[in-house]
Amino acid sequence: MKNFSAVILAAGSGTRMKSSLPKVMHSLSGKPLIKWVIDSVSALKPDNIILVLGHGAELVKKSLSENNIKIVYQTERLGSAHAAMQAEKVLKNYEGDILVISADVPLIKPSTLLSLINNNKKIGASITVLTAEVENPFGYGRIVKKGGILEKIVEEKDATPAEKHIKEINSGIYCFDKNLWTALSKVKPDNAKKEYYITDAVSILKGFGKKVSLIAVKDNYEVKGINNRAELSHAENILKDRKIKELLSDGVSIIDTNNVYISYDAKIGGDTVVYPGVFIDTGVSIGKSCIIKGTSYITNSKIGDASTISYSYIEGAVIGKNAKVGPFSHIRQGSVLKENVSIGNFSETKKAIIAKNSKANHLSYIGDARVGENVNIGAGTITCNYDGKKKHETIIGSGSFVGSNVNFIAPVKIGRSVLVAAGSTVTHNVPSGKLVIARAKQELKHRKIDE
Ligand code: UD1
Ligand code: CA
Repeated sequence: MKNFSAVILAAGSGTRMKSSLPKVMHSLSGKPLIKWVIDSVSALKPDNIILVLGHGAELVKKSLSENNIKIVYQTERLGSAHAAMQAEKVLKNYEGDILVISADVPLIKPSTLLSLINNNKKIGASITVLTAEVENPFGYGRIVKKGGILEKIVEEKDATPAEKHIKEINSGIYCFDKNLWTALSKVKPDNAKKEYYITDAVSILKGFGKKVSLIAVKDNYEVKGINNRAELSHAENILKDRKIKELLSDGVSIIDTNNVYISYDAKIGGDTVVYPGVFIDTGVSIGKSCIIKGTSYITNSKIGDASTISYSYIEGAVIGKNAKVGPFSHIRQGSVLKENVSIGNFSETKKAIIAKNSKANHLSYIGDARVGENVNIGAGTITCNYDGKKKHETIIGSGSFVGSNVNFIAPVKIGRSVLVAAGSTVTHNVPSGKLVIARAKQELKHRKIDE
């Protein structure tokens, strides 16, 4: 049924955030507010998406990765109706319906937008307003009805004491037909804020004899507007609670649901146990039957089934099945730990591919390295990868055993099944099957003891 274009209003300055950053660039669960709305709208594949920018326009524009969005500018902040009018030049001859949505309603679902659009078309209305029944309507525009039928929308500052008691609020999301532009041209700034309010379109369209309509959201959280930091933080909690419920019902154990952060986009397999103190940021996928113990931070990483992560920081890594990380390890960008790998106790990896069954369990730095299978890296081993200008690679062949406190001066290549003696500083390549000792020979000298 749908055939629509979307106008996203994002020119407001967001003064209530008290921030140097434009409001819509504030991050909610790792994703800017505006991106949440763009993603929801894009899921419905509208004919056009028009973004109205003003305050901080350049910054917002730079953050966009989509190339199907048309940008228009509102140079003066004269109100939401004035903002929407800026899209007229793009959509003047457009015949379909027009979804107008504020960029500060990040939790809206595509399915709700679709119901709104379908409703407007089905009943042939010139506007359908998405509303919600809320406990505390303060700050929202109120839905004023007469005989049960939508009459007008009144803003908080213009509402009479009786209207302030109305609990049905305007979500700031509307579907219009092509009469939108004529309606907007009639809006006047005669209200407490002296702004051009898009909400006046309801009474204007009614005055034209057009049909106006509303539908209410099922879940109020979807239309929570973000105007200040308290609302932003509240939205984080809503998202987190939703995610936790979903994971629990999918068979993930979360020991203390009040003491974890799990991003909306995390994927976690059944029978995995998440302990208190875990922070799972965006871009994380964790397999089945894993144990994730606090205090751990994980972002942009993939962890295979039956792995254990404890008290560690993991970023941009791919970790295989049955691996062990921690306690107290830092697995950095580009680390690939294969099946059964164990990295523990104050060890750090970066851009290191470590093949299955290998271990670096104590106080090591493995960076820009390729380590084969079944390698044991002794305590305190360091790949010296940086010469002050460039990074160099260390390669350690399968089956090698590296004693404690070894330095590999990269670039250096160690063959298969090599035994590197403890305390060695390895500066040259070592062929397979050798024992290498690269340290000063122990000497005994006479010690003169003063009486
Ligand atoms: C608005 C609605 C209110 C509704 C609430 C829902 C109006 C007049 N009021 O109030 O009925 O309950 O949203 O969250 O619309 N904008 C511009 N240019 C401007 C002014 C605003 O682009 O000159 C944009 C803002 O960036 C924002 C949207 O319009 O995305 C709404 O503006 P905002 O100031 O947040 O309105 P609210 O007071 O929240
Ligand atoms: Ca708002």
